[in-house]
Amino acid sequence: MTSSANGTMLSCEGLTQTYLSGGRRLTVLNNITFSLERGGFLAIVGPSGSGKTTLLGLLAGLDRPSAGRVVLDGHDLGSMTEDERAELRSQKVGFVFQSFHLIPTLTARENVQVPLELRGEPAEERAQELLARVGLGDRSHHYPSQLSGGEQQRVALARAFSARPQILFADEPTGNLDAKTGGSIVDLMTGLNREIGTTLVLVTHDRDLAAKARRMIRLADGNVVEDITHS
Ligand SMILES: Nc1ncnc2c1ncn2[C@@H]1O[C@H](COP(=O)(O)OP(=O)(O)OP(=O)(O)O)[C@@H](O)[C@H]1O
Ligand SMILES: [Mg+2]
Repeated sequence: MTSSANGTMLSCEGLTQTYLSGGRRLTVLNNITFSLERGGFLAIVGPSGSGKTTLLGLLAGLDRPSAGRVVLDGHDLGSMTEDERAELRSQKVGFVFQSFHLIPTLTARENVQVPLELRGEPAEERAQELLARVGLGDRSHHYPSQLSGGEQQRVALARAFSARPQILFADEPTGNLDAKTGGSIVDLMTGLNREIGTTLVLVTHDRDLAAKARRMIRLADGNVVEDITHS
């Protein structure tokens, strides 16, 4: 039986990441184990340097752990080839990472249209609507180089939404935004979670956003020091 059969969307077991730095071994994540149900909403919090982004990269299959395993929708990421992981990501996974670049030769709207067109769905109007929802309705013809960092991140969010992923990983999705824009992005994400059951895994320093999550895991020095589920 795969883990997806029992309603688990994501699990990790003994997840450990170490780096060699200046001849010394640095443990950035230490033996992390948890699982998250399909449709769950998890916020990962903790101080700077505690390992949040590292954990997100491992859970999303972008990096490989030093030890331990990740199972995403029934697929053991460690037993897959890089091509197989890329295929799984393109089918099920959305990312909102600052390092996840937009396509520089496409406008904001064209970037958002890509996932819609890949599914053969009407794209132009929907892309425009999604850009409006992230507050960029009047920037749809801008290329990424003509947008601020926060604006590029919002286009990446709109693109992630247009793909309607089964699971969305986001690193500080409201980190560069003012309160009002951040609020509309939070609404979009919780809407995806509620309306189509997208599992959300977010790293955030934003208390309001963390408070909306049903589950909160707190990291400190690469360890889980708190794991709370709101009923
Ligand atoms: N490639 C690497 N080599 C060595 N050390 C690394 C590497 N990548 C990350 N680290 C270290 O791992 C630790 C955790 O980094 P990570 O980016 O996961 O932190 P974070 O919790 O996301 O912090 P922030 O809130 O500042 O984004 C940091 O101390 C960082 O210096
Ligand atoms: Mg980080």
